[in-house]
Amino acid sequence: MNHLIAPSILAADFGNLQRDIEMLNNSEADWIHVDIMDGMFVPNISFGFPVMKAAAKHATKPLDVHLMIVDPDRYLKQFAEAGAYGITVHYEACTHLHRTVQSIKELGCKPGVALNPHTPVALLEDIIRDIDLVLIMSVNPGFGGQKFIDNTYKKLADLKALAAQRNPALIIEVDGGVDVTNVDKLVNAGATALVAGSSVFSANNPSEAIKSLKNPVKA
Ligand code: DX5
Ligand code: ZN
Repeated sequence: MNHLIAPSILAADFGNLQRDIEMLNNSEADWIHVDIMDGMFVPNISFGFPVMKAAAKHATKPLDVHLMIVDPDRYLKQFAEAGAYGITVHYEACTHLHRTVQSIKELGCKPGVALNPHTPVALLEDIIRDIDLVLIMSVNPGFGGQKFIDNTYKKLADLKALAAQRNPALIIEVDGGVDVTNVDKLVNAGATALVAGSSVFSANNPSEAIKSLKNPVKA
């Protein structure tokens, strides 16, 4: 399967959100990545339900929701009702991760678990069979436009090996600092979904930028 591209609307123009969502609808993007930040788990606040619902109203592609919030159980139902397809929670933010994953499934959404750059892949050993996706953060979460962390490639190799043993259908997503210069290497290392914010929305032609991420030139 070709890798999935999930542009992050964190880098969109919120004053023209409908226009930007329609651009994504008409592009080669597979999903629309929705970054939710609470100012507690990460040192930034992004947006909440009204903005996500506005995005969902116009989006024709699945919403891939990335919750960078503490104790996400409090809001799972609201994110499902706001139109989430997948809900990804942070390993570091969930005391009872197994319960959180089951709740996401019961709401009819696809569960994912995100790992901060310092969190080892091996910690997923006993949850990996229960989830659809693992999101490897390739920057410290909280802001768009940060520099890609190279240790991500090592983590992709670890995750690929673990998934081969325990969940071959797992989607391996990378988030942060993804652009045309690293996309081919990431896919070769095992990434099957790529999030891109600034490299898409700061491009002169965002739709072409998505196309280049979807069809990278082989290194
Ligand atoms: C970072 C977010 C990312 C972010 C990626 O905390 O989780 O999804 O929007 O932005 P870029 O692609 O600009 O690094
Ligand atoms: Zn994200």
